[in-house]
Amino acid sequence: MADNEGNIDAKDFGIGIPQKQEGFFLKGNENACYGIKSRLAQVFNPRSGRAVMLAFDHGFIMGPTSGLERIDLTINPLIEYADCIMCTRGILRSIVPPTCNKPVSLRFDSGTTILTSLNDETLEDIEDAVRLNASLLAVMVAIGDPDHEGSTIRNLTKTVDMGLRYGIPTLGVTAVGKNLTRDARYLSLATRVCAENGANVIKTYYCDEHFDQVVNSCPVPIVIAGGKKLPERDALTLAKNAIDQGAAGVDMGRNIFQSDSPVGMILAVREVVHNGATVDQAYDCYQTYKAEGKCPNACCCNK
Ligand code: R5P
Repeated sequence: MADNEGNIDAKDFGIGIPQKQEGFFLKGNENACYGIKSRLAQVFNPRSGRAVMLAFDHGFIMGPTSGLERIDLTINPLIEYADCIMCTRGILRSIVPPTCNKPVSLRFDSGTTILTSLNDETLEDIEDAVRLNASLLAVMVAIGDPDHEGSTIRNLTKTVDMGLRYGIPTLGVTAVGKNLTRDARYLSLATRVCAENGANVIKTYYCDEHFDQVVNSCPVPIVIAGGKKLPERDALTLAKNAIDQGAAGVDMGRNIFQSDSPVGMILAVREVVHNGATVDQAYDCYQTYKAEGKCPNACCCNK
């Protein structure tokens, strides 16, 4: 208990100076509660307003896909360069060092694999997400899938409700599926449905035409998945185009961990996302790291 004697009287009340009010830097989350904003500010850099999320949750539907056979060897060395990691609770508990001190976007649903029908999902336990110190709850939503649209939207709704109880924001993940197209019309609908149902951030795909319409019609931030492995320059171009059209970051996996220089690639992606690099500059960053094991410029290491 504070000492009751010898205290200095309070006198600096700042009379006449209005209390400083700070707006929140992520669109659509101004009215969220403190816990949600605080966790979002762990994932997204308040200086740039953006995030480089490293996704390696693929095993929950794909098994040991290329680059994820030994996460301890391939992914753990990359974690220090990410703003946030996206993975399952199994990998978190078994392989990711708790000392990495990175916010976690926890894969919060599980169900079917690529061997059967994707997107038939159930949810995990919110108390486990709390135990794991999750900063985001990631849930797949299969808009337009006649078999799983309803159940996955209900999953999103339940996740948002559970997250609100504990101040953990929800990441709506627009699903992949054989019959789901990835044009602006579909992506606008899918992202908007996730936002309308309360997701704080949406992960979706970039599309070549009218991606800015997808971003603008979504009231909360969008991050893009990288998708299947592309040549490094093409992946950086994809990230650059998405950022230039308003994406708040990337949640990228294969184009980083399947690269011939994963560290070079994540540093190059950081240059695009946080430092306004051109594709040429970012590609130079990747190539220099690949050749010399170090960055071409200081800001590249500005994690
Ligand atoms: C898919 O299983 C996951 O949602 C991935 O996190 C997502 O697809 C992002 O990874 P990638 O950049 O490899 O597409």
